[in-house]
Amino acid sequence: MQKQIIGIIGSGAMGAGIGQVAAMAGHSVVVYDNNKASLDKAKTSLAATLQKLEEKGKITSAADVLHRLIFVDDIHAFATCELIIEAIVEKLEVKKAVFAEVEKVVSDTCILASNTSSLSITSIAAACTNPSRVMGLHFFNPAPLMALVEVIPAIQTDPELVTMAAGLMKEWGKVAVLAKDTPGFIVNRVARPFYGEAIRIYEERIADMATIDWAMTEIGGFKMGPFTLMDYIGHDVNYVVTETVFQSFFYDPRYKPSFSQKRLLEAGWLGRKSGRGFYNYAAGVTMPEP
Ligand code: NAI
Repeated sequence: MQKQIIGIIGSGAMGAGIGQVAAMAGHSVVVYDNNKASLDKAKTSLAATLQKLEEKGKITSAADVLHRLIFVDDIHAFATCELIIEAIVEKLEVKKAVFAEVEKVVSDTCILASNTSSLSITSIAAACTNPSRVMGLHFFNPAPLMALVEVIPAIQTDPELVTMAAGLMKEWGKVAVLAKDTPGFIVNRVARPFYGEAIRIYEERIADMATIDWAMTEIGGFKMGPFTLMDYIGHDVNYVVTETVFQSFFYDPRYKPSFSQKRLLEAGWLGRKSGRGFYNYAAGVTMPEP
């Protein structure tokens, strides 16, 4: 099933990336955010990214792709959208409020998807008058480069949406995997012990962060080590996902969050996006040993 006009809620790392993917696949894309600065940043960085892709010969015209994208701070611009993908802050109550708000302005047939990393799609769907139109579509960061997309039906979701979403993701050059609506779905559940154990190794002074990252990339074959990856994802996202998965699995110690990471979040050291996380990107130095 073709969905011509795509709406994106949130113009941060994920929203901008998913918007780029949809526009490059030929859709008209409406990117909405309630923060003007974030919209401006997304617009500027997308223009630069598309320009680079044109120079490398990966797309024929950056201008053509950019023309298909509009950036708005008024939710009413979603009126003509056929599929909306939400990528805002990882907080259930905020997502539920936004879904309820968006449902008031879209058509009866518009599909509403969440890019949540860990929250219950069923809870988000319950905030809507028509929960059968709600599903999870979980992209990975950076969305234009990462092929995998988890397709997550809530218990209320119309089963036809799963087929539609899998087909659409294929058209976008993605590989869809079906996952049940459980905390962290597949990848973020598997990844919790990866991050958690790495932080524990660091806290127990078995090795420092740079050594752990080096071992996992150079020897283990991972693209990024756990500390580099957490800084890349952002601790506002990564820590909150761990906390959600831990609570949702009834405080199973396998998913226990760490104080080292919590302190980073409290300090506003969110990772690359704030210039400092486990590593200090401005100064090129790492966090002091525990
Ligand atoms: P981000 O912090 O880069 O961007 C979030 C954007 O949402 C910001 O521009 C903010 O202004 C906007 N926003 C917040 N509340 C809003 C509201 N009520 N209405 C409209 N806009 C609002 O966050 P990021 O990293 O893009 O994550 C977004 C979502 O994607 C989260 O649910 C996260 O769990 C998920 N995700 C994140 C990944 C990552 O590696 N960062 C990977 C996969 C999923």
